[in-house]
Amino acid sequence: MMPTGWRLTWVLSIALLAMSALVLALAGSGEEGVRMWIRATARSSGTLFLLTFVARPLHTLLRSDPTRWFLKNRRYIGVSVAVSHFLHLIAILWLTNAWPENSAVDPVTLIGGGLGFAFLFAMGLTSSNAAVAALGSNWRRLHRTGAWYVWFIFAITFIPDAGWDLLHVTFVVAFVGAALLRLVVWLRGRRSS
Ligand code: HEM
Repeated sequence: MMPTGWRLTWVLSIALLAMSALVLALAGSGEEGVRMWIRATARSSGTLFLLTFVARPLHTLLRSDPTRWFLKNRRYIGVSVAVSHFLHLIAILWLTNAWPENSAVDPVTLIGGGLGFAFLFAMGLTSSNAAVAALGSNWRRLHRTGAWYVWFIFAITFIPDAGWDLLHVTFVVAFVGAALLRLVVWLRGRRSS
């Protein structure tokens, strides 16, 4: 039986901790091991984020039981994105404190990535009916602006510094495809209204 609701968030969070332990157990806790953990948490965050980003347009198009399940559980998967990226933050702090000589963070990453963390954590912390009621239209503004800003950071950061490989091609194509899907469904919605 597939977990749903906050139980799903717990299951995904435990899976993220298990993934982290496995990566550090296999790659070690040296600089390369911690860098591997940073990449692993970026990839788990990117995958979970994509599921929340396409949940509504996919269900609008397909109206199937799986897409209905994803739409109903979008909030709970969304909070697990914040959990995954909290682990990304811990790994980055470990790297920059243990190997400062090899991990200076340039101002663009600090500001652009820092704002990305702020949006992810703000969206995670306001993932409740109480927050929706308290923030009113600002809730929708935060989550819509935040979702697109985080989409942008993921899409550009998955473009590799060195040569392309299948994993980075897959992530970049998936992120561009997700944006096109939302655009197409939004335009169809406008035309039919
Ligand atoms: C100040 C904020 C941030 C810092 C300092 C930071 C630092 C890093 C570092 C050092 C790596 C590369 C590790 C390596 O390959 O050696 C990395 C990879 C990555 N980060 Fe972050 N990050 C930040 C925020 C974010 C945010 C907000 C996002 C997404 C919304 C993000 C998404 C990614 C992605 C997609 C990768 C590439 C993973 C891969 O190539 O597989 N980062 N980050």
